[in-house]
Amino acid sequence: VVPRERLTPSQPPPLRVVIWGLGAMGRLMARLVLADPDLRLVGAVTRQAGASGAPSDLAGLLGLEPAAGIPLSPSLDRALERAGGANVVLHATGSFVAEVAGQIEACLEAGLDVVTIAEEMAFPWAQSPDLAARLDRLARERGHTVVGTGVNPGFVLDTLVVLLTAVTGHVQSVYGRRVNDLSPYGPTVMRTQGVGLDPDEFARRVADGTVVGHVGFPESIHLIARALGVKVTRVEESREPIISTVRRVTPHVVVEPGYVAGCRHVARGWSGDLLLVELEHPQQVRPEAEGVETGDYIEIRGWPDITVRTGPEIPGGIATAAITVNLARPVVQAPPGLLTMLDLPLPRGTARRRPEVLRDVRP
Ligand SMILES: NC(=O)c1ccc[n+]([C@@H]2O[C@H](COP(=O)([O-])OP(=O)(O)OC[C@H]3O[C@@H](n4cnc5c(N)ncnc54)[C@H](OP(=O)(O)O)[C@@H]3O)[C@@H](O)[C@H]2O)c1
Repeated sequence: VVPRERLTPSQPPPLRVVIWGLGAMGRLMARLVLADPDLRLVGAVTRQAGASGAPSDLAGLLGLEPAAGIPLSPSLDRALERAGGANVVLHATGSFVAEVAGQIEACLEAGLDVVTIAEEMAFPWAQSPDLAARLDRLARERGHTVVGTGVNPGFVLDTLVVLLTAVTGHVQSVYGRRVNDLSPYGPTVMRTQGVGLDPDEFARRVADGTVVGHVGFPESIHLIARALGVKVTRVEESREPIISTVRRVTPHVVVEPGYVAGCRHVARGWSGDLLLVELEHPQQVRPEAEGVETGDYIEIRGWPDITVRTGPEIPGGIATAAITVNLARPVVQAPPGLLTMLDLPLPRGTARRRPEVLRDVRP
């Protein structure tokens, strides 16, 4: 582990980065780190290490030439042993606090800071207060930092909202909507959004919890409320089917007219009798088939009202990988503990990366 005192902001050496989880997001993060002169990728933790037929090196896995010489390791201990120490882990293995807490604890025990994209880690106190308290305690004891981020939760419907409130005199309430296209995603996403089901089956699967819609609304609502200095007393969520009137075809699913093209997930956060935050995330395949334009929309209602919209939507994959890699240094320089996006300096990108490493990546 490289001591913190050697990482002075005035003359920072490249940070030594380990990526845990080489799924879609972890691989994108790896490319960004490899393109960054201020970061050095020293290891990757993956269940693919040692699998028969799997490459032994990250470059092989990413199809990059020449070989980058970064070994794939089956455990964090093994990755650190081979790397001879690291500063920070970029973590991308799951969504829920309960499933990732053990991995994050292992990082803290090993003396590392952590940026994770597990959705519930954006505000872990919302659903797992006991585990959050445990992680916070361990982080402080070890003098290291954990933060949860991502495109959403982590940025579009919380951090960006909070940033916009900075130029208002008073905030009464907040409305946000992210309209996106699910077409590029694989079978897991189709299943958890109910794409391709008939409406009755959709309703049954919402009831039994297998259609979940978006993961992260309570976290975004609590983040916004904390930023605004008020308490959320109740969060309500609803999940409705988006029923297609036309045939929609994607590589993983075909939706016939009358079947479900996606899930309109809405969440409302109340502070007493006041509807403080309303967030909407209609996610569907081929939205353009019915003239739906994708984009992000934020309305701050107060004095004055402020409205911001993007179109098409901020691309979720690149955005998630980028904000994670962009937080590597801020998290190392932050005070110890379990933090949120509200506790870090204004997040930012960099003009220093080599764009050719990203040339063949589709946003
Ligand atoms: N906050 C946000 O905005 C945001 C955005 C995108 C994704 N996410 C979340 O981040 C996670 C990763 O996203 P993704 O798109 O990269 O998913 P993915 O393509 O399914 O990859 C997940 C990877 O996690 C690792 N993994 C899975 N189960 C594991 C386990 N039990 N123990 C250890 N490692 C495990 C595997 O990597 P190896 O094969 O290398 O072991 C797997 O390839 C998902 O839970 C996703 O919902 C959050």
